[in-house]
Amino acid sequence: MGRFFEDHLMEEESLFKDERVFDFDYIPRDFNFRDSQLREIEYCLKPAVRGGRAMNTRITGAPATGKTTAVRLMFSKVEEVTSRVVCVHVNCQIHTSKFSVFSQIHKKVVGHLPPETGVPFPRIYAAIFRKLEKEDKSLVVALDDMNYLFYDRHANDIIYDLLRAHEVYPGAKTAVFGILSDIGYSYKLDLKVSSIYRPYEIFFQPYKAGEILEILKSRVKEGFNPGVVPEEVVDMIADYAFTHGDLRMGIELLRKSAINAELEGSRKIKPRHVEKAFEGSRLVALREVLSSLSEEELLLVKLIAEKGEAASGVLYKDYKARTGQSYTKFYRALDKLEALRLIDTRFKGKGKKGRTRDIVSRYRGDEIKEAQGK
Ligand SMILES: Nc1ncnc2c1ncn2[C@@H]1O[C@H](COP(=O)(O)OP(=O)(O)OP(=O)(O)O)[C@@H](O)[C@H]1O
Ligand SMILES: [Mg+2]
Repeated sequence: MGRFFEDHLMEEESLFKDERVFDFDYIPRDFNFRDSQLREIEYCLKPAVRGGRAMNTRITGAPATGKTTAVRLMFSKVEEVTSRVVCVHVNCQIHTSKFSVFSQIHKKVVGHLPPETGVPFPRIYAAIFRKLEKEDKSLVVALDDMNYLFYDRHANDIIYDLLRAHEVYPGAKTAVFGILSDIGYSYKLDLKVSSIYRPYEIFFQPYKAGEILEILKSRVKEGFNPGVVPEEVVDMIADYAFTHGDLRMGIELLRKSAINAELEGSRKIKPRHVEKAFEGSRLVALREVLSSLSEEELLLVKLIAEKGEAASGVLYKDYKARTGQSYTKFYRALDKLEALRLIDTRFKGKGKKGRTRDIVSRYRGDEIKEAQGK
């Protein structure tokens, strides 16, 4: 007799052993391939553990290379071994003003958030540093996704106020960990800030294909029941993730394909569940990227998508006619769009203005419209 119901999921049965394993802020049990970066972070934190001041650092690397995870991991290790150091991790995508960033620090140091209104900044500042001084604690603040603080020049103020605290509170021992997704262009700090913030640089290189595969496999073990994800399916997801240079997408695909499989009552994830998840996630990702662009950058993306492919000179003429922007700005925008993987560029040798290149869109015009909900 044949076997029945084998492939079919029973009600209230789940493919997931633990769905939280796929949350974006989950700290994985295995965190491999980042040993040297973890060592460097340890090295920068060590002086604080010994009662001094941590070293300032700047942590850079492409999206989803483990920067946030590494810092959060090391912060929790420090707090396990000593109570002399207060580590605050601030997500600057959410906390974009000086008040908001210092409120997070206040919360960690003092134990609660300051009132949202009516308290002048110096009072919050004083509460933080008096408490640290009294308890002889050192402070490390990670400004994660610090690029979000550059739009209104908050980064300057915040770093300055943190690093100059010892002038007002002589016992203050502070350090800043600036975390930046390396998207091809650099942010400049004011001279007065860059002269006190000379960070130790830590770089997170992109994962290789084999590393992505291994990371995803261990996530599968952690999050799914045995047998749920066939070998060929992990391979397929790892491929997608590697081609798109984004491990995070791979983790998201695992979760979404499992949900698709569950919806069909399947006990295993099949390639078609992955394909469906991929189509969806591509649009969501595109939507996110587009929403982070300026008006001019968005216009340029659309121009390129309409054309599909164009020589950069031709493109610039159109762009200039519509925006009036300079050649330098145009080139900077192209660099950014390429770093964000919205376009590809191919060099074609020398032209009158130096190197010429062909610009190719990674998305079709209708995909961009759809992602924008139009
Ligand atoms: N070495 C690794 N082992 C296991 N999981 C990892 C590893 N590196 C990254 N991840 C996972 O990949 C995802 C992205 O990592 P993380 O958020 O730390 O990247 P990031 O460098 O801070 O990215 P971004 O620049 O976009 O903020 C997370 O789900 C994290 O758990
Ligand atoms: Mg991050």
